[in-house]
Formats: sequence, structure tokens, C-alpha cells
Amino acid sequence: MGSKWLLVILPLILTYIVEIALGGKTSSFVRSQWPSTDIPLDNQAFVEPDGYNAPQQVHITQGDYDGKAVIISWVTTSEPGSSEVLYGTKENEYNLKSQGELKNYTFFNYKSGYIHHCLVSDLEYNTKYFYKIGDGDSAREFWFQTPPEIDPDAPYKFGIIGDLGQTYNSLSTLQHYMQTGGQTVLFVGDLSYADNYKHNDGIRWDTWGRLVEPSCAYQPWIWTSGNHEIEYRPDLGEMSTHKAFLHRYATPHIASNSSSTLWYAVRRASAHIIVLSSYSPFVKYTPQWLWLRDELKRVDREKTPWLIVLMHAPIYNSNEAHYMEGESMRAVFESWFVQYKVDIVFSGHVHAYERSYRISNINYNITSGNQYPVPDKSAPVYITVGDGGNQEGLASMFCDPQPDYSAFREASYGHSTLELKNRTHALYQWNRNDDGKHVPTDFVVFRNQYWGSSTRRRRLKKYHHRWNPNMFASFEDILI
Ligand SMILES: *[C@@H]1O[C@H](CO)[C@@H](O)[C@H](O)[C@H]1NC(C)=O
Ligand SMILES: *[C@@H]1O[C@H](CO)[C@@H](O)[C@H](O)[C@H]1NC(C)=O
Ligand SMILES: *[C@@H]1O[C@H](CO)[C@@H](O)[C@H](O)[C@H]1NC(C)=O
Ligand SMILES: *[C@@H]1O[C@H](CO)[C@@H](O)[C@H](O)[C@H]1NC(C)=O
Ligand SMILES: [Fe+2]
Repeated sequence: MGSKWLLVILPLILTYIVEIALGGKTSSFVRSQWPSTDIPLDNQAFVEPDGYNAPQQVHITQGDYDGKAVIISWVTTSEPGSSEVLYGTKENEYNLKSQGELKNYTFFNYKSGYIHHCLVSDLEYNTKYFYKIGDGDSAREFWFQTPPEIDPDAPYKFGIIGDLGQTYNSLSTLQHYMQTGGQTVLFVGDLSYADNYKHNDGIRWDTWGRLVEPSCAYQPWIWTSGNHEIEYRPDLGEMSTHKAFLHRYATPHIASNSSSTLWYAVRRASAHIIVLSSYSPFVKYTPQWLWLRDELKRVDREKTPWLIVLMHAPIYNSNEAHYMEGESMRAVFESWFVQYKVDIVFSGHVHAYERSYRISNINYNITSGNQYPVPDKSAPVYITVGDGGNQEGLASMFCDPQPDYSAFREASYGHSTLELKNRTHALYQWNRNDDGKHVPTDFVVFRNQYWGSSTRRRRLKKYHHRWNPNMFASFEDILI
């Protein structure tokens, strides 16, 4: 009788354990916030630099595949001026130079300033570079630090910011991020929200460029485009898409053999970062689909263990805002994310924070009937960080009940950081902006999806004398 009874009850016990393990949390925290209105044009946050035609809106991004180059961009407003960057490894000693190029555009009746983009390449790894742009007395000086050489154990700290906009909440998010020691920002789309203004007023692209300069001029922001970058306005005669974004923000797409600025990949320290475009064709046979198929084959987890994907519209998200907008991309790309064991997919778009468990829905096809996401150890964790603080406000209506796959969700403004420690471990946290304090609200330790597997752990043990095979057990409660 005993064993028969066990046969009946065991599945129940197991179901119960799975349910406990998957029990998600909806935070009840309600953050006091500033109104969701944009900072006025005459505010100090948007102040223009002193001097005739001084460079403004300075920002840098990675300029090659492996982190030995940067693209430095800036705007001059009175006349084109020089597109040259002077640089070197000692302050005030600019013994190297690089020639950039100039762009300008109009959007309906807005006329842009002169937008400079300059590729600075052949840099040394792990080195602080000083750079100088602009002419004569109006020249300005900045610096940046190159990443360590590509190495599976190279530590690196990324920030993740999305849907930033230009409100006081946006400024708070930016200031909180700047206190974290983050070395590069993975920006998941929706930059200025200039398209919410009459005629998509380009002046709000300029103010945004000045707002973020205190971070962007000194460290790369890896750009993903969002729906607010589309700016398709046939009623204004603006028939192309992404016009302001494509003129203002460069990406190193050619280095990863991508045909578009909007999707590309970079490798940095121990990470391989793939940037996708939610608002460009991605179904089978399109350029983005073909490119991603090839790029995933180029990923070498022995060199870059951490495989991270960025896109604007989330694939898994249980907020009523933008519900299921990522479903079409899920149908096309999810099986690859599982096959290639992507560690984390970061998105924005929904103005709240949410983290999933490792789940997939790849068994679903329109005839199989398996329509629910299930726990899947090979699947990525999906994280939505669309909570930068733009003028549209928070998305505070979550679907009720919280789906099994949702681990933590909260409608507050904030940012995340991902600190890669070595090939096996990364510390991740989401911080809400808590009125001047630095508060980690959601915290997990990621085990690498490639090096975390048991066979590779054994292999690794051979090379690391001090490797402790039990270390995972001690992290088990927070490890995913
Ligand atoms: C770019 O700037 C030049 C020089 O001021 C001007 O002649 C030209 O019309 C501008 N082009 C656009 C597209 O605004
Ligand atoms: C891009 O394509 C060229 C030519 O096929 C090749 O030499 C290069 O290695 C490719 N780059 C990457 C990052 O795969
Ligand atoms: C759909 O899923 C079912 C059940 O997993 C499977 O038998 C069938 O082959 C799938 N159909 C296609 C077209 O892949
Ligand atoms: C990787 O980093 C984690 C967390 O800091 C540490 O516990 C572990 O010992 C490190 N592993 C190796 C192989 O260095
Ligand atoms: Fe969006």
C-alpha cells in the first residue's frame, strides 16, 4: 500500500515544489515621484557649453567588434567646425589624432546642428585616454577608459537603462547610475521622446544629448533603438524611419557584418552583446534574421562566456502596457535564444521593472496545443528595464494573477547593473531611484549558461586549483 500511495502523492508533491520555486513577487512599493513632465528648456540640466560653436551633446560608443575603438560624436551649432579628435594617454598631451565626418539633417521645419562622428581606433586595452574636440578657446576635453582584452574571466560592470526621456525622474535615474561605478551602459531603446512634441521637435533631441553628456562623454553607451526612434511622419513629409537617431547615434555595425546601424554585435571584456531592432524586419529571410543566424554562430563562449541580447520590446512581460507586442519576435527568435543558451535578454518599452525565471515556449506551434511557457534551464532570463523615467509615466497595471514565469515586478523608476565577475558568476541588481539613496531592490547571482553546465564545471576544475565544487550550493537560493 505504502509505495502505491507514494506513486499517487509524489506528482502532487513535485507540482507543489515547482509552484513554490516559481512563485513570483509583485512588489507593493509605491515610490514617491516627481510629475512625469519634461524638464523645462532653460533648466541647468540642458545648459549649453560656454564658447562660440563649442562642441555639445558629446557621446561615445564602442567603435569595433572587440573594444579597441570608440566612435566619438558631438554637435556644433553655429558652423561646422572641425571633425577632428585629438587624443592621447596623458592629460593635456594629445599626440594622436583622428579625422571624423559631418552630418546634418532637417525634420519638417527643424534644422539640426552639425553632427560629428569620429572613429578612434587601434587603442590599447585597459587604458585611460584623454580626448579634445572643438576649435580654439571653445575646445573641450574628456576622457574614457578602454575595456580589458577579450577574456573569459575579464570582470566588467555594465549598467542597463531604458526609456529614459528627459524628466526629473530621468535625471534621477542617470545620477543614480553614475554612482554605481558602471563602465558601459547597455541602453535598451527610447532615448529622447522628442516625437511626443509637435512636429517631433528636434530641439528635444538636442536637450537630451546635453542631459546625458555627463555619462555618455566618458563611457560608451551601447545603443538599441526603440519605437520613439521610428519617427515616421508622412503627414509632415517625413517618409523615412529613424531619421534623427541614424544621424545622431552611430554604431559599429559594419564590424559585425551587419547591413544596418539598428542591429549589430560587440564583444567587450567577457561579454558578447547582440543588439536587435524590434522595429525593423526580422522574420525569416530578412537581413536582420540572416545576420542574427550568422552572428550566433560567431559567438565563442570559450572567449566571451556571457551572451547578452538587447531589444526594445520585451518578449516576456506581464504588464498590461504593450502586452504581447514582443510576441512576433518571440515566435521567430526564441528557439535560437534557447539553442545558443543566451544568458539574459534585456528590454525596455514597458515603463516598469520585471524579471522572469528561465522559461521558454518553444514547444508551442499552432498545432501542438502546448501553448504555455515552461521552465527551461537552457532559456535566457528576460528582464524589462523600461523604467528610466520618461514623460509618459509608469506602467503600473500588471496582469493579475502574476504568471508563473514572472519572478519579480515593480512599477518604479530605476536602472540595473550587471557585474560580470568571471566566466561562471555575475552579480545583477535593479535599483529603484529612492530619493537620493542607492537601494538594490532586486538582486540575483547569475550562473553562466555555458560554463555553469556540469561537464564544463568539471573541466574548469582541472584548471582552477582553488575551485570549490560546492560553491553553487551556497548560492542556491539566489542563483539562477
Ligand atoms: C547642412 O549644412 C549645410 C551648410 O550649412 C547646408 O547648406 C545644408 O543645407 C544642410 N543640409 C541639411 C540637410 O540640412
Ligand atoms: C565579416 O566578413 C568578412 C568578410 O567575409 C570577414 O573577413 C570578417 O571576419 C567578418 N567579421 C566578423 C566579425 O565575423
Ligand atoms: C508541432 O508540435 C507537435 C507536438 O510537439 C509536433 O508533433 C509537430 O511536428 C509540430 N509541427 C511542426 C510543423 O513543427
Ligand atoms: C567567480 O566569481 C565568484 C563570485 O565572485 C566566486 O565565488 C568564484 O570563486 C569565482 N570563480 C572562479 C573560477 O574564479
Ligand atoms: Fe517604447
